[in-house]
Amino acid sequence: MTYNDVYEGWKSDPEAFWMMAAEAIDWVKKPTKALDASKVPFYEWFSDGVVNTCYNAIDRHVENGRGDQVAIIYDSPITGAAGKTTYSELLVKVASFAGALQARGVEKGDRVIIYMPMVPEAMIAMLACSRIGAVHSVVFGGFAANELATRIEDCTPKAIIAASCGIEPGRVIAYKPLLDGAIELSEHKPEFTIVFQREQQVSDLIEGRDFDWNAVQQGVAPAPCVPVKGNDPVYILYTSGTTGQPKGVVRHAGGHLVALEWTMGNLYGIKPGEVFWAASDVGWVVGHSYICYGPLIHGATSIVFEGKPIGTPDAGTFWRMIEEHKISALFTAPTAFRAIKREDPKGEFVKKYDLSSLRTLFLAGERADSDTIIWAQDQLNVPVIDHWWQTETGFAIAANPVGIELMPVKLGSPTVAMPGYDVQILDEGGHEVAADTMGAIAIKLPLPPGTLPTLWNAQERFVSSYLTAFPGYYETGDAGYKDADGYLYIMARTDDVINVAGHRLSTGQMEEVLSSHPDVAECAVIGVADALKGQAPLGFLCLNAGTDKADEDVVKECVKLVREKIGPVAAFKLACVVDRLPKTRSGKILRGTMVNIADGKSYKMPATIDDPVILDEITAALSKMGFPH
Ligand code: COA
Ligand code: AMP
Repeated sequence: MTYNDVYEGWKSDPEAFWMMAAEAIDWVKKPTKALDASKVPFYEWFSDGVVNTCYNAIDRHVENGRGDQVAIIYDSPITGAAGKTTYSELLVKVASFAGALQARGVEKGDRVIIYMPMVPEAMIAMLACSRIGAVHSVVFGGFAANELATRIEDCTPKAIIAASCGIEPGRVIAYKPLLDGAIELSEHKPEFTIVFQREQQVSDLIEGRDFDWNAVQQGVAPAPCVPVKGNDPVYILYTSGTTGQPKGVVRHAGGHLVALEWTMGNLYGIKPGEVFWAASDVGWVVGHSYICYGPLIHGATSIVFEGKPIGTPDAGTFWRMIEEHKISALFTAPTAFRAIKREDPKGEFVKKYDLSSLRTLFLAGERADSDTIIWAQDQLNVPVIDHWWQTETGFAIAANPVGIELMPVKLGSPTVAMPGYDVQILDEGGHEVAADTMGAIAIKLPLPPGTLPTLWNAQERFVSSYLTAFPGYYETGDAGYKDADGYLYIMARTDDVINVAGHRLSTGQMEEVLSSHPDVAECAVIGVADALKGQAPLGFLCLNAGTDKADEDVVKECVKLVREKIGPVAAFKLACVVDRLPKTRSGKILRGTMVNIADGKSYKMPATIDDPVILDEITAALSKMGFPH
């Protein structure tokens, strides 16, 4: 079978394609059909099937003889800790923790927030929720209390599961004060929390509200798997949108299982029993799909890595991991490779390790630059596969499906649309454009199984954000083009989302925070090119008349404010004070033009600009900060 056979097979009969893929899942009750189009534009998949996600990720493998196989390898170069958990051991741990949740009243459909670093307990918590039909929402550890509070408010969890701390290079991050702060800030209060105490920082527990991870499991009966409908939610994952209010991407159980299982073999070329390492974080979609669920559903071994590509302890960590754990495929963000390449351009560390187990490197999360891909290819001597996806889709929209066939790699392209996705490049009027022409990237509805059916508590926002610009299509928010061979090229976002070290951030959200500073009258945040992180946020601040603070002091306070309100992950470190912002005559801030100036790119004077002189002022302010580099 070639990619073309498979893609055309899907296109000619999507229903049969997905029903066939669904055969790889163990259902309590098999679905009678794949697509449910009864509530258009809210498409759902496998709605009349009954299933349990955790059963497919753990129990069935134990029942089928994989009990002694390692399910999770924990490797934490940042703490020195390490460990392995077999499928049988994982079953005991997950069932026990799920029993504890049930004993404290968590039921099917209840939401549970998980706020934990990269420890196996984060996965145990996720799987325990899906075991009892509870809906988890994992919040990345690099977010501040305020962001956690927004999510508590939105998904109204019955419980929050947290660790006492996370560990970043050179510092221990106490999670408990952030958790307490978030609960304080939020109007909704969870009934209880469970805290996994780590030896690096043990936190105080509030009597009657906070329970210790181990103590709460004492004397409880292990929980069996609770069957859920194919269209019941398994999780909510918040992602950046255009405003300060994050979007709660909903994932339904049936489609999630079917899509992930299909990708593990066909896209990643992984066989059950092999070791798959997604070097990301459980707080991101990559962590949900390919640290927690995908590898386990497929009966592979997954890795929980608590460290960084460099500095824990050196730029050879990834290679040590591959050798030691016999990793077949590595999946990470290009920024990780840029960091390694910068520290070890000649690949001295690469030579020290036996990387013969590695068959493929997968990159995603941001545009993969050709330099990084070529360097990785040269060093590792394996295909380097860029693939494109979003939190919303949960798995790749475009990829090189090595499990079916390795297609010729074209630098700068994440290759071709995966089955399930009819990807089209549209002009402003919604008409498909010719090959090699830039346009908005849209996907013809319905989206495939495993993608978002809606946003949590925000049906209208789902429609207005994704389905309105191009009727009959899902608007990806990315712009790019397709070449004559159907290869896609993802060039830029069409909204104010930026991508910093593979993390998706909203400049609109940062602007909301900056505007709340008492001395800031107006502001704009743009994403400027950054050699390591891909993009970095940069703020322009216009101050209120009569402000007597020095500009540098306001800048410092603003940097601190974004860190406090959004979190360190925003990586907001650059800002300057300007008198005015460049705008169109109708008052729209010319952010795109400012990006071009900062990146040293040529630009056309916008015809609608109100006062062109302001661009000179922006150029001067940027030049003072060393831009363009
Ligand atoms: N908890 C608390 N803080 C966190 C955190 C977490 N889980 N993750 C990151 N942070 C902090 C970092 O310590 C850093 O703080 P600082 O400003 O005090 O230095 C800040 O958030 C920014 O983090 P990040 O942008 O991720 O950069 P980094 O300094 O951690 O380095 C690189 C990251 C450059 C090494 C990069 O190559 C990398 O590994 N990025 C992550 C790629 C990734 O996993 N992407 C996910 C999609 S696949
Ligand atoms: P996230 O939801 O965090 O996964 O971010 C999704 C966004 O990251 C996409 O909409 C793109 O803008 C960008 N992105 C992800 N993968 C790629 C890729 N392979 N090439 C270019 N951009 C990518």
